[in-house]
Amino acid sequence: MFKSRYHIFLSLLAVTLISGEILDRGWWNHTVFYQIYPRSFMDSDDDGVGDLKGITNKLEHFVTSGVGAIWLSPINRSPMVDFGYDISDFKDVDKIFGTMTDFENLLTRAKALGLRIILDLVPNHTSDEHYWFKESINRTGKYEHYYIWADGKGKLPPNNWLSVFGGSAWEYNSIRNQWYLHQFHKKQPDLNYTNPEVQEEMKETILYWLRKGVDGFRVDAVPHLFETNYTLDEPTSGIEDDYEYDSLNHIFTTDQPETYNLVLSWRKILDEYAYQHNTSEKVMLIEAYATLENTIKYYNYGSIPFNFYFITNATDASDASVFKDIIESWMKAIPKGSIANWVMGNHDRNRTASRFPGMADQMTMLAMILPGVAVTYYGEEIGMVDKTDITWEETQDPLACNAGREKYQSRSRDPVRTPFQWHFQRNAGFSNANKTWLPIHENYTITNLIVEQYQNESHYKVYRALTTLRNTSDALKFGSLSVDVINNNILYILRKTSEEAVTLLINFSKDKQGKVDLTRVLTGFKNGVIKVASVGSKLRQNQTVELNNISIPPKVSIVFQAYPSSKAPAEYVASLQTIILALSFLIITLYK
Ligand code: NOJ
Ligand code: MG
Repeated sequence: MFKSRYHIFLSLLAVTLISGEILDRGWWNHTVFYQIYPRSFMDSDDDGVGDLKGITNKLEHFVTSGVGAIWLSPINRSPMVDFGYDISDFKDVDKIFGTMTDFENLLTRAKALGLRIILDLVPNHTSDEHYWFKESINRTGKYEHYYIWADGKGKLPPNNWLSVFGGSAWEYNSIRNQWYLHQFHKKQPDLNYTNPEVQEEMKETILYWLRKGVDGFRVDAVPHLFETNYTLDEPTSGIEDDYEYDSLNHIFTTDQPETYNLVLSWRKILDEYAYQHNTSEKVMLIEAYATLENTIKYYNYGSIPFNFYFITNATDASDASVFKDIIESWMKAIPKGSIANWVMGNHDRNRTASRFPGMADQMTMLAMILPGVAVTYYGEEIGMVDKTDITWEETQDPLACNAGREKYQSRSRDPVRTPFQWHFQRNAGFSNANKTWLPIHENYTITNLIVEQYQNESHYKVYRALTTLRNTSDALKFGSLSVDVINNNILYILRKTSEEAVTLLINFSKDKQGKVDLTRVLTGFKNGVIKVASVGSKLRQNQTVELNNISIPPKVSIVFQAYPSSKAPAEYVASLQTIILALSFLIITLYK
């Protein structure tokens, strides 16, 4: 059939060009993801708000810190009512953050440094200033059904549904003479996902950013995507607390079954794009505060649901067994072969170092030693804490503003969003503005990157030692996982291959010295060496750990590495292999 070799060559070339390949499948396994809240990371133009150029200027920080991927909270054009989570143009960058060129430069620089960039995708709602919404108000053409509109009951809203941000989830619009649904702020109308045109718009948005070269998305508020029975009330939950939203059981506004197929349709777009353009696989991280069962389901639809259980199910009063349960229930629930993940904090929740006073390092150790993806919220690497004294006048967060002067503090997310503390000079090195958008935490003279880089022991040193170990240890990459509680107080986590063991021990007791004998679980292993110890532990890196007699002070945690007695550590094996190879060459040459 083929007349010549030339034709065969051409045919093969054509086949190769047509059939693409998705590269680096599952690259995110073992990767540290770092969440940047762009307003608060680095301000390059001194207007008091962080921006894209600021981030680009600081990208080396991630290389030094052992971070592999960066998730940017929204950078799209937005009236900033919910600081970017209210988007008025999905395909543009807000000028407060810079220009599209600034974003392209950020991507180029990040790629050159080997860093992956993922964006926040906010599909559930737009800003009420988006032109889709304006057209929808006027019932213009296809936009008429882009949002969820319903008739009221006389002068009252269609039903009792509540907004996550407080008050009714419905807002009356006098032009259209109907009510629109907003599960969050009234300036964030919910899109109507039962409308295929809306689904199409979001696909276009995803493709737009894929073409720019992003490595994937963190998807916002996924359980809220679909709603059903617009006229029916949601039943009461029986929960009585200060937070009105909890008083209803959200059976019509969250976790609707259609959600999962929509997520799967996005996976298809990501895969098709990667396949057609021979790029790395694209990652999709899902924000879903849901039951364990409903959360885990997302794994079966081509995405990774964030594991928020260290945030929602543990407090500083929790003992070691609570942590063991959190870890085991996640590991047991996730589908076989899927990649676990561990989130300690984000822009909506109190900072880790504030939730677990004196135990910030312990939490970082957990995230880094457990298998899969570790997620770091900006500032966690230096142990930043919540700024709890932000006044009502300084308050920015819409959730806090909606709660009112009396209650704002219990709801405000501002304390966890203050500027990153780079050094001990003006505005912590974040900006030269006279006023930053949120005040800087007054502890910045001590808690900051530069000081912590030079201190003998610091949260940052702990963070770096952990990422270094993570990037070099096979036990952490491929090893098995065992979790246990010793003497009620000590959480024990072991990652092991036949060549190496990495153990994390956390003493949860606030006053009792912990004694541990690990000779039985580490049979055949030699004494270990401390790789990381929590700040203030008085334990040193490289100090020997005698397996039969490990002593851990209260609230202290250590990570140590051990090798089997019969086997030498990997680097010795490697050098031995090199020597044997060199000798064989010598012998062959001589023999010739
Ligand atoms: C979840 C985001 O994390 C939060 O910051 C935002 O306010 C809501 N979704 C609404 O987009
Ligand atoms: Mg919705």
